[in-house]
Amino acid sequence: MKKQYNVLIVGAGNIGAFFDTKSSKNILTHANAFYRTEGFNLLGFVDVSENKGKRAATLWDVKYFPTLEDAFNTNEIDVVSVCVPDDYHYYILKKVSNFPIKLVFAEKPLAKNLDQASEIIRIYGEKSIRCLVNYSRRFVNEFNILRENILEGQYGNFVCGNGYYGKGILHNGSHLIDLLRYLIGEIKGFKVLGHSFDFYEDDPSVSAILDFENGGNFIMQNVPCSNYTIFELELLFQHRRIKIVDSGFKIEEYTILDSKVFKGYKNLSKEKEYETELNKAMLNSVRSIYNNLSNDEELKCTLEDGYKDMSVCEGLKMEI
Ligand SMILES: NC(=O)c1ccc[n+]([C@@H]2O[C@H](COP(=O)([O-])OP(=O)(O)OC[C@H]3O[C@@H](n4cnc5c(N)ncnc54)[C@H](O)[C@@H]3O)[C@@H](O)[C@H]2O)c1
Repeated sequence: MKKQYNVLIVGAGNIGAFFDTKSSKNILTHANAFYRTEGFNLLGFVDVSENKGKRAATLWDVKYFPTLEDAFNTNEIDVVSVCVPDDYHYYILKKVSNFPIKLVFAEKPLAKNLDQASEIIRIYGEKSIRCLVNYSRRFVNEFNILRENILEGQYGNFVCGNGYYGKGILHNGSHLIDLLRYLIGEIKGFKVLGHSFDFYEDDPSVSAILDFENGGNFIMQNVPCSNYTIFELELLFQHRRIKIVDSGFKIEEYTILDSKVFKGYKNLSKEKEYETELNKAMLNSVRSIYNNLSNDEELKCTLEDGYKDMSVCEGLKMEI
């Protein structure tokens, strides 16, 4: 039998418990991913709301614990998922580090500011607590393949790109920053173009041009979420154009062909479009947690990644 790890989820909200059920096709919650992965034993939920905590416990057939102390007093817990709202990430990440845990699965963003994020990195380093930050697209096979192809130089150099997001640079824009860092490389500078406060009072959605260490630039544009929700990006390389649409559920790839109309011209032509397994990102991330705990497999999104994503977001916020 596989080694078993006990799991506690802090924050019985949408991503923790309620986006899906045991019979859902899509695996969208921490609860469902742990429930379905052999080697994990979901013990229950901690939530400040007794009502939500108990509802989640009933839905997933586990226990509700009013506090972390209640959960740890009666159980050995190896893994804690932190699924509370952004404002409480730091507080809960710090608090759970006082208990004898092996790994934390932390919802993004890592914290609300860089001081908080550095403190968490220091504490987790000192206590040897592992942490996986949930920038979900890193756990999707199709994005892993894109990254490999880019790194191998199959598409040529990155030239430029653009993308759309809303709901705050830290809250949602950090997904875009993280995906760009994952696919293209580190961001060396930026210029802010505008902003709007479309969701949180303290987290503006910023439009900016980003410059990459490897060359090339990317224009990120905020689209206020009162209109609709959009998360899309387009990446132009020397030999290929990649469009990531529908929040990353679909990818289009364009290759270069000789123009049929203008002799000697080269045009981009859609070669293929395919669905991604973004609906399995949560499951894959939890599988990778198992492989990390049992075989020391490298974590795909570390505390340092969470910090670097935040530092770009914080830099952009300072410039508005
Ligand atoms: N990775 C992703 O793609 C993704 C998607 C959705 C949400 N998220 C992140 O997940 C987090 C939660 O989002 P959500 O939509 O599930 O929120 P939510 O409001 O639905 O749920 C949050 C839950 O946390 C509880 N809570 C608040 N403070 C608490 C505390 N101090 N201790 C214990 N429980 C507490 C609330 O009562 C609530 O039940 C956010 O930080 C969000 O950014 C990430």
